[in-house]
Amino acid sequence: GRKWTEVGLLNEELKDKEVLIRGRVQTIRAVGKKIAFLVLREKGCTVQCVATVAPELVSGQMVKFATSLSRESHVDIQGVVSVPNVPVKGTSQQVEIQVRKLFCISKAVPNLPINIEDAARSESEIEKALQAGEQLVRVNQDTRLNYRVLDMRTPANQGIFRIQCQVENIFRQFLLSEGFVGIHTPKLIAGSSEGGSAVFKLDYKGQPACLAQSPQLHKQMAICGDFGRVFEIGPVFRAEDSYTHRHLCEFTGLDVEMEIKEHYFEVLDILDRLFVAMFDNLNEKCQKELEAIQKQYPFEPLKYLRKTLRLTFQEGVQMLKEAGIEVDPLGDLNTETERKLGQLVLEKYGTEFYILHRYPLAVRPFYTMPCYDDLAYSNSFDVFIRGEEIISGAQRIHVPEFLATRAEACGIDVKTISTYIDSFRYGAPPHGGFGVGLERVVMLFCALNNIRKTSLFPRDPLRIAP
Ligand code: 4AD
Repeated sequence: GRKWTEVGLLNEELKDKEVLIRGRVQTIRAVGKKIAFLVLREKGCTVQCVATVAPELVSGQMVKFATSLSRESHVDIQGVVSVPNVPVKGTSQQVEIQVRKLFCISKAVPNLPINIEDAARSESEIEKALQAGEQLVRVNQDTRLNYRVLDMRTPANQGIFRIQCQVENIFRQFLLSEGFVGIHTPKLIAGSSEGGSAVFKLDYKGQPACLAQSPQLHKQMAICGDFGRVFEIGPVFRAEDSYTHRHLCEFTGLDVEMEIKEHYFEVLDILDRLFVAMFDNLNEKCQKELEAIQKQYPFEPLKYLRKTLRLTFQEGVQMLKEAGIEVDPLGDLNTETERKLGQLVLEKYGTEFYILHRYPLAVRPFYTMPCYDDLAYSNSFDVFIRGEEIISGAQRIHVPEFLATRAEACGIDVKTISTYIDSFRYGAPPHGGFGVGLERVVMLFCALNNIRKTSLFPRDPLRIAP
């Protein structure tokens, strides 16, 4: 086969070399009939290509053909790398390609619903352009999502989904190195796994069933099956009618479950090291992606400590109280009080990533282990980035009779989860774990304002296509 060069790898070392590249036509500009400038884009990287009429090398017909191409068409260009005297504005690569041959591989329709250049601008760039009297269409979220294959092509989106992949990758690598086993649990289940009404019901060959709200029950059963430490990366379904910036009806869950020897802090220790390693890795290995995101959506890097701060729920309530905000000490925090506490924690401890533990039992799911010393509280925790929840977890009840009592007390039909409860009748070790929302981690690490930005094809109460 022929040798291809990636647009992102074009640099001055290739000066005067002939290269073969493939990409999309981002913009086309003709100067008279003799010169055409094309900006070619591949995976979010861009390079300027110049076709100039020259005897024996480039015909007038070819330049005409170049100017007739529609934006976003896929083309192959064979050409020579040159280094312009004045740096090219607006492209990621600083070299230019002197076009020798040009082939169109796939034509895009002439009127695109989204202009990629406009879709890639930051809010401040848009403001500036509008003030300068430029004709410009602000691309709204629904349009972006309706034409996601186009929207995905912006450098920021290329960065976001590469970061998402890296988060998953670190999660897996870290846990494998700590002796965890990756598992897959069923997504078609008989009864709801988290309780509540937010469950998609379906007919399973005549039996009532639902889509799993989490791998909770089965990951615990894998612990009953002696795997010791397990993790799962998989889809999670929630039917909740939440029209917010942080709720989806389908998201990717990163789940962990492990035996506990003495204390649920063993789970927090794993969580702590996992996330510090993850943030370090993202900052180190994903600089290009982070820059691409920052260019469109400016943000400050996440502030986190080498050892993650742990506060008890009671300490959190106290901090809020001192700031003049009264919350129910046996209730839950809401979005607003969580945010406020996040600010207070940042001011006092200098971190935007922290663990809040020992939650009131009443606000946690039925399978949560109460505190041994105070039944009003539980061995449970939530974890926050920039004042918003990304993780919840706990030690679980491993005594079947107690588990059944708690399920009933929480209004769950015990019959629908009898095989789960029975799993604990054959001997079960103390255990605990947590669930992470992948889209939320990426959203909050990059301080993005909407979870739909970090889901490739988001599912919310109003959207099931594309
Ligand atoms: O807090 P949740 O519901 O907890 C569980 O599912 C437990 N089984 C976890 C455990 O192991 N005890 O969900 C866990 C995480 C949340 O912290 C949040 O990051 C994310 O999943 N999440 C959502 N993400 C997007 N859209 C939604 N509707 C979400 N609901 C939860």
